[in-house]
Amino acid sequence: MGETGPRYIVLLGPPGVGKGTQAERLTERLSLPHVASGDLFRQNLKAETALGLQAKTYMDRGALVPDDITIAMVVDRLAQPDCAAGALLDGFPRTVAQAQALEDALAQQGHALETVLYIDAPADVLLARLGGRWTCRQCGAVYHLLFSPPRVAGRCDECGGELYQRADDTPETHRRRIAVYQEQTAPLVDWYKTRDLLTEIDGTLDIDGMTAALVATVEA
Ligand code: AP5
Repeated sequence: MGETGPRYIVLLGPPGVGKGTQAERLTERLSLPHVASGDLFRQNLKAETALGLQAKTYMDRGALVPDDITIAMVVDRLAQPDCAAGALLDGFPRTVAQAQALEDALAQQGHALETVLYIDAPADVLLARLGGRWTCRQCGAVYHLLFSPPRVAGRCDECGGELYQRADDTPETHRRRIAVYQEQTAPLVDWYKTRDLLTEIDGTLDIDGMTAALVATVEA
């Protein structure tokens, strides 16, 4: 827990900018759980829950899962005991309704967001990153064919699991997800700016450079 209570930090940015990659590193550094809405949906899908199967119909076409389902899932996750000291939120909120629900849920507990780390990069950079991504089926670790290759092709360095390409990692879905981001999520930049919560991070930096910039911000 921080000096003034739990720390809630949001990673905001377009698909493929590196939120998940950085979240893995930051959560270790900050000793906070990584709460990623996309991962929660994929875990539900793997377990074949009704929620997972419902979410899949939206995810596969690059659309957002409806707010009511998403908000309930994340608020429930934040109520788990391991989030007592706060959380690093990745991929949530993604709409103004989600941001408002998060603000309200935290306020009900007497808490507030500490900061929103906004990572941005041009579409060509995002498409190059998304196009080369391979993910571990077992532990979810993320690799890139060129920028962060595994030591052994097709195998996870961490757990030896099989690497696969996500169902929504197709060129058509990438473009759709970036368009959906511009339409529905980008308005959150101004929303958080007006609350004086936004810190901008250069998303064109390499993986280590971006970690250094993020750490400098959260440890300042
Ligand atoms: P989600 O899983 O959240 O996907 P996303 O936000 O689109 O983000 P990604 O996981 O695609 O990218 P990332 O920024 O984490 O990048 P990564 O680190 O992997 O959401 C999937 C779907 O779930 C959504 O489309 C929606 O349907 C649904 N959903 C989720 N949350 C929702 C919500 N709140 N509301 C409604 N629906 C929701 O990196 C990408 C690649 O680049 C990797 O290969 C990596 O190795 C490489 N890389 C990373 N950083 C760098 C770097 N600095 N330099 C070079 N390569 C890099």
